[in-house]
This record gives sequence, structure tokens and C-alpha cells, in this order.
Amino acid sequence: MKNDHLISDDLIKKTEEFVLKSFEKDASGHDFFHIQRVVLNARKICRTEQANERLVILSAWLHDVGDYKLHDGIDRSEELITAFLQKENTDNSIIEKVIKIVSEVSFSKGNIPGSIEAKIVQDADRLDAIGAIGIARCFAYGGSSGNLIYNPYNQSKNSSSIQHFYDKLLILKDLMHTETARSIAEKRHNFMELYLKEFYTEVN
Ligand code: NI
Repeated sequence: MKNDHLISDDLIKKTEEFVLKSFEKDASGHDFFHIQRVVLNARKICRTEQANERLVILSAWLHDVGDYKLHDGIDRSEELITAFLQKENTDNSIIEKVIKIVSEVSFSKGNIPGSIEAKIVQDADRLDAIGAIGIARCFAYGGSSGNLIYNPYNQSKNSSSIQHFYDKLLILKDLMHTETARSIAEKRHNFMELYLKEFYTEVN
């Protein structure tokens, strides 16, 4: 694909190292291994889609850099991603594309991805928010933000980690863009339903 040669193996390797350094100590569910899983998901989805795979992989590595959740509510993604890619002498056309993809991935910003590359990264990120791993991340994020596990008296938005299933996690399967992500999401969704059923059996 056009401009593919502008994203070298070396740049992807350097990006992985940069992300490892930046996210090593995260305890909010956005650690290095979350990002690594998103890259693996994205690679899997790419097998059945016509997309610029190198652009997808580079954007997947960078998708949580500068995220507002990790920077006291301030979105620094454009600034930090641009600084890193410029340091690595990346072509401006690639930097612009990565910034656009990353800005379209976030659930809370409510953006709808315009390109297949952004759709794949968004699907890959959302897959890591559901199923067994999604459950683990939900409670890790809740704990790191000081939220309750469950509050039977309050079922308003953001009231607990269990409530987050209804606010977001159970909705994600219907928001997938690609066929591959949809079929993986189906299985993970069913597991969350089963988990919640058991959870309520134990707390009631
Ligand atoms: Ni993410």
C-alpha cells in the first residue's frame, strides 16, 4: 500500500520500546501488556481486512499514549505521539495519519472511525475490554480510581465496577466494525453474561 515503506520494522521496534518504557508501571489496566494484546488483536483482524497493516500496528502501539485517563484528565496524545515520532524522523504524512487514527479510537470521545485502519484499532482495543481479560481490567481500573466493586443501592452511571459492565462493556459487542472482531466479541460477551449471573447468585 502507498506510504507503507515509510513505516520500517525498526520504527515499529522503537515504538514498542517507547511504549514499554512509558507504560511499565501502570496499574489502571492500561499497562504495556494491554497495549501488546491490542497489537496482537489488530494483527489478527488485519488478516481478513484490506488495510495498511503497518499503519494499523504503529497506531495500535501508540493508541493509549497521552490518554486523558492517564494524564489527570488532560488529553496529551497528539503532543506526545508527535514528539516521539518526530524524534524517530517519521514522515509527516504518517504522523498525521497516526494522530487521526488514535483520536478516533477512544470510546469516551464518541468518535466514529473514518478509515478501516482506525476501525481495526478500535475493534482491537475494545476486544481487550471484554471477556475474562475485560473483567480483570474493569476491576483493576475501578480499584485504581477508588470505585466500589458493586453498590446494590446505586445503579447510576459510574457508580461501581459492576455498573461499568452496563455503562460500557456489554454494549461493545454490537459496536464492532469488522467480522473477525464481531465473532471474537460474541464469545467474550457470553462469558461476561455468565460471570454476572454467578456474581448476583453470590451477592444475593
Ligand atoms: Ni487501550
